Amino acid sequence: MKSNGHHVAKADDILNQWGFVSNPYYDHELLPDILFELFVNREASIGEFYKSIKLNTSIFCIEGDYGVGKSSFFRRCALGQEQLDKSSIITNKITITKDAAETSFFLTVLSAVINSLKVVSNLSQKSKDKLTEIENVVTIQRQQSTAGSIYGFIGHTRTSGKSEQHSPKYTNLNMLSDLSEIGEICKVELDKKIILPIDDLESEKCDLDQAIYLVGLLRDLIFTDNYVVICIGEPGLREKLSSSGRTRSIFGESIILSELSVDDFIQAIDKRLKYFGNNSSYIPPFDEDVYKKVHEYSYGDIRWAFNTLNRIFEVLIRKNYIVRTYGISHVLPLLHEIEYKAFSSLESNEQKLLSILFKLGPLSPSDNELQDAMGSDRATIQKLVQKLSEDSSLLRKKKVSRKFIYEVGPIVKSLESSKI
Ligand SMILES: Nc1ncnc2c1ncn2[C@@H]1O[C@H](COP(=O)(O)OP(=O)(O)O)[C@@H](O)[C@H]1O
Ligand SMILES: [Mg+2]
Repeated sequence: MKSNGHHVAKADDILNQWGFVSNPYYDHELLPDILFELFVNREASIGEFYKSIKLNTSIFCIEGDYGVGKSSFFRRCALGQEQLDKSSIITNKITITKDAAETSFFLTVLSAVINSLKVVSNLSQKSKDKLTEIENVVTIQRQQSTAGSIYGFIGHTRTSGKSEQHSPKYTNLNMLSDLSEIGEICKVELDKKIILPIDDLESEKCDLDQAIYLVGLLRDLIFTDNYVVICIGEPGLREKLSSSGRTRSIFGESIILSELSVDDFIQAIDKRLKYFGNNSSYIPPFDEDVYKKVHEYSYGDIRWAFNTLNRIFEVLIRKNYIVRTYGISHVLPLLHEIEYKAFSSLESNEQKLLSILFKLGPLSPSDNELQDAMGSDRATIQKLVQKLSEDSSLLRKKKVSRKFIYEVGPIVKSLESSKI
């Protein structure tokens, strides 16, 4: 086996002693090549998904907390069923970055749609030519806007920046009409709908107001042109997206994903151990109590849960622990050590706020109880929670009736038995 040097060779060797080809606590979104081996449960929600598609719902949301498994779930649905292959074309997921303007959004959508159609063979020559023509315009336009952004021209999509003078203007209206035309081609020649997943609409990652606006622009397309838009983000997403006049009342029922139960989580781990074991004689690194504790700390954020197990196992490898199954009494100190690093690197007032929220439970910056304990005013606390909740493993924002409350995330929760 080739390796990049002594250190890697040694780690590989140790992994081998455990009986794994790589760290079994895989913590990324499940992609097609491993999805079916590693995915657990969600049958009922998968059923709901196909039902929405069958009912011709044009736009609906997949809602769930950070790390609960939304993106993996969507992929599972997208790949899982032949019936879907026959009735739909699914594009790559589209994300809306913080500074996404209309033009760049439409170009992304167009590229995604064209790419997904490239693999379809039974289109007429005329349609293929049309697609190539659109693709060329899109490619040029994208190059120009990246070139533009280097010189700071982008963002002025309405004014004509220097970069746009080279080619005839490809306006947003042109792009919408091209999208329409592509939708029509799919309907007539393939009898298929185009499914557009817009993922990562969690508010920390994107500007939700902008997302509402951009999704609104797709509205006419949704109504008339053979498209299904699926928006993936945190709980309450449907309510937020449909608050704008343009998209009100067109949303179908959301699919709400709740956290995987501890049994599902343990089953997911078993599957990972088997999958990454190089034969059946691997040694399970942790016993069930460890998984139960990590699940308890995770608040359903199984990304954090897998990531944490991944990092603890890394420590076992790096420090060359004896190959055997470790129980909670061995693992908790390692977990504390790892998470305490993250906690102690915060500023002292941030640490103070997290400790208080940990002790007093979820609160809002407007609560006197919190202001008194902090000895700060609302605005100061607001700034702190804003910053801390950018990392949901530290602090999580929840809407309860009309106000936002904040609760500590898994990192802080997992430090419960140390003195924070
Ligand atoms: N149904 C499932 N079975 C097994 N693992 C899952 C499942 N859903 C999610 N995961 C794992 O959980 C983590 C978070 O999943 P992801 O889909 O990225 O969450 P989200 O999009 O909600 O933030 C990933 O490590 C993924 O591999
Ligand atoms: Mg996701």
